[in-house]
Amino acid sequence: MQIIASIADLRAALKSRGRIAFAPTMGNLHQGHVSLMAQARGFGDTVVASIFVNRLQFGPSEDFDKYPRTFQADCAKLEAAGVDILFAPTETDLYPEPQEYAVEPPAIQNLLEGEFRPGHFRGVATVVLKLFNCVQPQVGIFGKKDYQQLMVIRNMTRQLALPIDIVGGETVRAADGLALSSRNGYLSPAERAEAPRLYRELNAIRDAVRQGESDFAGLERAAAADLDAHGWKTDYVAVRQQSNLLAPHATDIPLVVLAASRLGSTRLIDNLEI
Ligand code: PAF
Repeated sequence: MQIIASIADLRAALKSRGRIAFAPTMGNLHQGHVSLMAQARGFGDTVVASIFVNRLQFGPSEDFDKYPRTFQADCAKLEAAGVDILFAPTETDLYPEPQEYAVEPPAIQNLLEGEFRPGHFRGVATVVLKLFNCVQPQVGIFGKKDYQQLMVIRNMTRQLALPIDIVGGETVRAADGLALSSRNGYLSPAERAEAPRLYRELNAIRDAVRQGESDFAGLERAAAADLDAHGWKTDYVAVRQQSNLLAPHATDIPLVVLAASRLGSTRLIDNLEI
């Protein structure tokens, strides 16, 4: 695996590489990322991954400084997963001057995650467009665990006519159901034991809706109350339309239930398609 930091070196290395499948990450890789790399292999002649902790998508009181940076271990995992090129720019490589031009996503950026993380999707969309311009892939692969992020990137790619197919990778879970996440490492042993409750609440809502329950607000309230009764601080539990993440106007359309809740100082997100 070639490890490249500068945009110029990356462009040189990517000449005549055939079809490129690209999976951007912020590092601290787990099995969920590894499965995205394996999926990428099926879409491209060359698999490119990136590791870049993107300051633009973190709010002022968020965990940019303490975000786990585990570069050596990440490289070993990417190498084992068959990645051909790792693009790992420094902040100066990717943002040699203040990044004043940005992608401003539409109203979707203010829903759900956006309500609690203002500016987050602007930062995500901006770096992803920039990474796309650096790598120029034919396929971009993103985990479904960040459901709203995947939708923002899909919509951006379509509306800006980028010649890139966006593929969503299934969420990988621990045996007890907890969605794998780089932030799980922040959990204490007691919090880690409690954490799968989030997935259980989503499953309970999915089962209820499948059995015909249509009082979505009631289901959302009950799940949030149960989480909070067990020491969580819930930002949202929301049943939404898969197509646009707006509140559903009918029950016979594809739905997704999404949640974000804080356990101690760790904010976990998860979702389940219904
Ligand atoms: O999902 C992530 O790890 C990040 O949001 C991404 C897509 C790499 C952009 O920084």
